[in-house]
Amino acid sequence: MKNKLIHALAATAVAATMLSAPTIGAAADTANAKVIAQGKKIAFSRSKGNCLACHMIKGGSLPGNIGPALIAMKLRYPDKQKLYNKIWGKPELEVKYSMMPPFGRHVILTDDQIKKVVEFIYTL
Ligand code: HEC
Repeated sequence: MKNKLIHALAATAVAATMLSAPTIGAAADTANAKVIAQGKKIAFSRSKGNCLACHMIKGGSLPGNIGPALIAMKLRYPDKQKLYNKIWGKPELEVKYSMMPPFGRHVILTDDQIKKVVEFIYTL
């Protein structure tokens, strides 16, 4: 009897997860799509990120080639936090004499804007 009850409870729990998971996932996806779109806008904006001045980025026009093309970012930065730190301008990730602006350290972009840019370039 006790066993049967545990079984029934387990089945309910599985059913509940199956029912709720897709909804949560879909909501997170929409939020993420919005953040990615905002990040793209910031990255491409000539007065904000202006990443295109130096980097080739898929979908962007008139890119410069002072920096490396921003492609396969997930592969090159499996740790998203490291990518954030790189763009923020953590001194230990800085390349000597690089033109890459330390966006966070020099307050060119806010932390929130950098987070959005990271979400966008992580899709490249
Ligand atoms: C004035 C030129 C310039 C601008 C503007 C610029 N970068 Fe860079 N970036 C560079 C250079 C040069 C490098 C390579 C040397 C280094 O790592 O600092 C680089 C490196 C990087 C790297 C590391 C690439 C790798 O292969 O590890 C990332 C990521 C990056 N930039 C992202 C950005 C993003 C995002 C923006 C816009 C918010 C941006 N950069 C704007 C010049 C620039």
